[in-house]
Amino acid sequence: MNNNTIKTKLSYIIEIPKIIDEGYLCFMEENNHIPFSIKRVYYIFDVIKNAVRGRHTHKNTKQVIFCLRGSVTIILDNGKDKEAITLNKPNQGLFLDTMIWHEMVGFKDNTLLLVVASEIYKDDDYVRDYKTYLKEIA
Ligand code: TYD
Repeated sequence: MNNNTIKTKLSYIIEIPKIIDEGYLCFMEENNHIPFSIKRVYYIFDVIKNAVRGRHTHKNTKQVIFCLRGSVTIILDNGKDKEAITLNKPNQGLFLDTMIWHEMVGFKDNTLLLVVASEIYKDDDYVRDYKTYLKEIA
């Protein structure tokens, strides 16, 4: 592991290297800056005003969310406590563990998110109903 991390109440933020070279260059490596093997990468952009994304948890997938451009607030919820984390630095990624409920709100214009995930997409990995989530973690 070669991580600079910032502890938050319910998770942590991973700071990846930022090289200054006539601009900036950031990079991440699996099982190093990212605490798992990366099986999937996706990105989210052009989100409409006041959209709320997420509102689910994953049974097996771990993720790290980077906000490459703009700003977004991620609300984490472990069934007991909640925490709102604003991401707005391209070298900071929020670790999303399995079974942590998350919502994404407050997208500023032109926000671009990059997400790296530990598993390929499977619909049955999602828990989308909050009451079911609370039962599953009880
Ligand atoms: P979803 O994870 O619900 O997006 P968000 O959390 O941002 O609201 O995914 C939205 C849609 O995209 C859903 O129909 C599933 C599909 N999807 C894939 O097919 N593959 C993927 O890797 C992801 C992340 C989503």
